[in-house]
Amino acid sequence: MKGSILIKNASELVTCHGYEPKAGKDMSDLHIIKNGAVVIEDGIIKAVGKTDDILKEYDENKYTVIDAYNKAVLPGFVDSHTHFVFGGYRAEEFSWRIEGVSYMDIMNRGGGIVNSVEGTKKATKQELIELGKKRLDSMLSFGVTSVEGKSGYGLDFDTEIKQLEVMEELNKIHPMDIYTTFLGAHAVPKNYKGRTDEFIDYIIEEVMPVVAEKKLAEFCDVFCEKNVFSIEQSRKLLLEARKLGMKLKLHADEIVQLGGSELAAELNAISADHLLQASDEGIKAMAKAKVITTLLPATAFSLKEDFARGRYMIDNGCAVALASDLNPGSCFTESIPLIFALATLYMNMSVEEAITALTINGAAAVDKADIIGSIDVGKKGDVIILEHPSYKFIPYHIGVSVVEKVIKGGMLVFDKA
Ligand code: NIG
Ligand code: FE
Repeated sequence: MKGSILIKNASELVTCHGYEPKAGKDMSDLHIIKNGAVVIEDGIIKAVGKTDDILKEYDENKYTVIDAYNKAVLPGFVDSHTHFVFGGYRAEEFSWRIEGVSYMDIMNRGGGIVNSVEGTKKATKQELIELGKKRLDSMLSFGVTSVEGKSGYGLDFDTEIKQLEVMEELNKIHPMDIYTTFLGAHAVPKNYKGRTDEFIDYIIEEVMPVVAEKKLAEFCDVFCEKNVFSIEQSRKLLLEARKLGMKLKLHADEIVQLGGSELAAELNAISADHLLQASDEGIKAMAKAKVITTLLPATAFSLKEDFARGRYMIDNGCAVALASDLNPGSCFTESIPLIFALATLYMNMSVEEAITALTINGAAAVDKADIIGSIDVGKKGDVIILEHPSYKFIPYHIGVSVVEKVIKGGMLVFDKA
């Protein structure tokens, strides 16, 4: 049977068990089974348990068998915040940033996101598919089996739709599962300079209804930031998106403390992301409203900003997710090892919390904790096998991926060996 695999003898089967996000102290519990086994049939997890017990019930000869002796097995990672479909690069801007020019200064000089908008407009759909495919392949090699992808490098009808259609196509042809987000309000395009309200109305009236009607995006996001979109503009846009059936996300309190965290709580958004400047009240409100707080440490690192207060968020009952934010500007990396290094060494998150943040809580950030993010019966057969016997090697081998094999929907899709 296609997509049927039996993995046995795992020194640690790190299940991350659960069908809901984990908040606060619960983030530390990985639900590990020693000498564990998993059975996947037809792409779906059929059984999870001790190897001895599983082999009594399931006939090895009926499956492709992987012996994970002396290796740890985990759920595939869920990268719940990326902008992986874009044309053109901004290496020049990166070197300016190294010299000390700030991200916002580059934006105010007419660079930044609108620069990538030009590159994305120029690129054909086929070119974007080829680029996207390469980026997904790289993510897969780090153990990512599901990814969220945003539009937002179009800022006009044709290009926003093109970006979303590229992801729709990639979802069909690539093993990775892609969950899509409409981020039409990512920046104010040049032709709307000084007319932000009108641009918001354009997005609401002209673009969003078609995105919803064609079912091109499950989520709607907005860059809620000083000099980009205000709290009021963000609220207006998100409420319209909700009316059209989209779930809500926000780029919130990244550079300036604007109150995006409070807005996310008020709107019961699925997630609020970045949060470098989130206030104490905003953090507590998000914990109460069960908004996933998605932290993107590689972006803070790349922008040379202070990291988000992950420790404080967990201690105050938030469900924290970690994601890459892969994009051509603020954070051109899809490196999962880098995220682990930063989260554990600089954000005072434990290894266990970081793993929860990239598995079950990442799944929750795309509203999919019921089908991905843990090794549980009934979920997709997405698992990774490490080169080492313990999950503790993940941050320990700094900046290097310890993922040996990636199984997506019961199929071996990456093998280092
Ligand atoms: O998540 N903050 C806004 N958007 C992206 C950056 C996009 C870009 O610079 O191209 C982010 O960091
Ligand atoms: Fe982002």
